[in-house]
Amino acid sequence: MRIGILTGGGDCPGLNAVIRAVVLAATLRHDDEVVGFLDGWKGVLEDERVPLGVERCRDILALGGTILGTSRTNPFTAEGGPERAVATLRAAGIDALVAVGGEDTLGVAERLGALGAHCVGVPKTIDNDLSGTEVTFGFDTAVQIATEAIDRLRTTAESHHRVIVCEVMGRHVGWIATHAGIAGGAAAILVPEVPFELDAVCERLRQRHRGGLFSSIVVVSEGAVPAQGDGAGASDKAVDQFGHVRLGGIGAWLAEEIEARTGFEARVTILGHIQRGGTPSAFDRVLATRFGVSAVAAVHDGAFGTMVALQGGRIVRVPIAEAVARPKTVDLELYQDVAGVFLG
Ligand code: F6P
Repeated sequence: MRIGILTGGGDCPGLNAVIRAVVLAATLRHDDEVVGFLDGWKGVLEDERVPLGVERCRDILALGGTILGTSRTNPFTAEGGPERAVATLRAAGIDALVAVGGEDTLGVAERLGALGAHCVGVPKTIDNDLSGTEVTFGFDTAVQIATEAIDRLRTTAESHHRVIVCEVMGRHVGWIATHAGIAGGAAAILVPEVPFELDAVCERLRQRHRGGLFSSIVVVSEGAVPAQGDGAGASDKAVDQFGHVRLGGIGAWLAEEIEARTGFEARVTILGHIQRGGTPSAFDRVLATRFGVSAVAAVHDGAFGTMVALQGGRIVRVPIAEAVARPKTVDLELYQDVAGVFLG
């Protein structure tokens, strides 16, 4: 068989581990040929591809980023784009395409499937917002990075008796904020799913400080919004090809408001792309490898239109359509019952 692979959307620790697993499983187990399309769907639209053999995958397991490059190109926004993408795959003799991506990249795979492309999806995103899978690869690494950052922020916050607002990624969902916030012992965790009451956040900080704790860490997702007013929101109005605005600014806004309302000195740290860069955690390397091997198995079973997923510790296949239908929002039991114990 001739299998294509692409990585689309924001990069994510573990992408190279998936590529390696797909190439090794396909070539060593099935004697397949693997072709890598460059920069996500752009490579398919413009027919930019490279052969991928075992040699090329040497030493990439622990490497961050993606050797194939990535982009947020959406074939459905280009004139004749979908037809061109399907025609390229056909002309290149691709029997099946492994699309490694989040909601946007896999959404395209799903729609191209309806036009005849044979796609299998692999769930990727540090945000962990894809449905159908308990976890996406990249999330564990991002949480680890954010937790380490919070630990470091805590000692400087304590020394200066400050509130430090730590802004983490999470456009629509607060998985990173919730996990890193719990792991880092945050005084408040603010997520996009639950608009926050600024007065309640400030009161919580006052209570802590009255109780003798003279520093606090507030973790906020970039997509969190206050219940009243519009907070900060998008940092500019430009949208990408999937219609997403670039977020940013809520952390700075929050730090300013907290300082003005409570009188506590406040600072902000925006973790940004540090959460996406660098080497994947051991968990993500294992998960990415399992996903890659399973994607090749799905290709050989002709399970097109499915995404490999983690459910109950096992790798299963779910329809891509189901995975991209709606984002997987934060488990409110975890957010309210577990995190809530400490948040008051
Ligand atoms: O991949 C998802 C994500 O991490 C979001 O949390 C964030 O809003 C977005 O990527 C930012 O990506 P970029 O700056 O690369 O467009």
